[in-house]
Amino acid sequence: MDAIYLDNAATSWPKPDAVIEAMIRHQRMVGGSPGRSGHRLSIEAGRAVYGVRETIARLFHIADPLRIVFTKNSTEALNIALLGLLKPGDHVVTTGMEHNSVMRPLRFLASHGVELTVVACSPRGDLDPGDIRRALRPNTRAVVLTHASNVTGTIMPVQEVAAIARERDIVTCVDAAQTAGVLPIDVEMMAIDLLAFTGHKSLFGPQGTGGLYIRKGLDDRISPLMRGGTGSRSEFEEQPDFMPDKYEAGTPNAPGLAGLAAGTAFVLAKGPERIHAREKALARRFLNHLEALDGDATIYGPRDMETRTSVVSFNLRDIVPSDAALFFDERFGILCRPGLHCAPAAHRTIGSFPQGTIRFSFGFFNTEAEVDLAAEAVVRLLQR
Ligand code: ALA
Repeated sequence: MDAIYLDNAATSWPKPDAVIEAMIRHQRMVGGSPGRSGHRLSIEAGRAVYGVRETIARLFHIADPLRIVFTKNSTEALNIALLGLLKPGDHVVTTGMEHNSVMRPLRFLASHGVELTVVACSPRGDLDPGDIRRALRPNTRAVVLTHASNVTGTIMPVQEVAAIARERDIVTCVDAAQTAGVLPIDVEMMAIDLLAFTGHKSLFGPQGTGGLYIRKGLDDRISPLMRGGTGSRSEFEEQPDFMPDKYEAGTPNAPGLAGLAAGTAFVLAKGPERIHAREKALARRFLNHLEALDGDATIYGPRDMETRTSVVSFNLRDIVPSDAALFFDERFGILCRPGLHCAPAAHRTIGSFPQGTIRFSFGFFNTEAEVDLAAEAVVRLLQR
């Protein structure tokens, strides 16, 4: 039985051949430690890493590629941003649709003197930017929000929220784990100060890659999460204070970044709009099937494809999501993610806590036939 992979919100699969080839090539032909030893393979590795910065900068409209810090995932990027920026006595605002990569660092900070407000969202996951405005206080330092929910696919009004924050010199930090590569992101136009992204989802890179964009001037206010060797200013025992070395201690994942460069180049060549259009069409096709089930399926999140990504969360009568996922895997080879998706806040908001939902997340490489088979699997489960 072939696998039908519907877990692209967790990590995209398969990867384009170019991504795998770039990593093999890097490991076989380059392999030096970037920015360290000064020999030709080290210099070539350093050039390759800089090339990835340029490619990512192009995608997110970042004028200076050195504003990008590479991390192992968006969680690490968010930890650098939040733990580095917020101090006791500061106030931070977030939403009721966040993943634990935002919530857990914020809850930790809240237990160490940072004031936290979680703004409620609608049961479909929608956020009213006016509620963010009303939550602001004189000591609000940052607003942190996801670009799109990993549970419902709801796209958040990032640009409106960032405009409200910018008026008051409040930092906007965006978790783009679910959107980098599928939704247009322009950090200047959208007034995003901090952008956390992962490489292994819609940028088609390998796991262990990601990054953080830090707006010019803001790094002065963000302490690094880790300190250590950078290959620069080696005569000093103190961490460099310049970008991106301030936040990039230790040997980077250069082979992974070579894969990320190829994945991002794939996205740029196809065009994020085309990728999004394809994924939207697949998700819409599946929603059509679910909507025809006459009340046997509870569908979460918005129905209008213009306001959502291709993540579809649903429940089938009173079937436990993990039982459904096991049935889909064993009987149909369908691989999905059931449960709480590391986002208990979002499940509380949509009313599916604590059992969670069944989540099918469609990707660029899925086919209409796979969507139809997934719908057939749903019907078979209901008939059991
Ligand atoms: N946050 C990822 C997901 O939604 C891992 O599955």
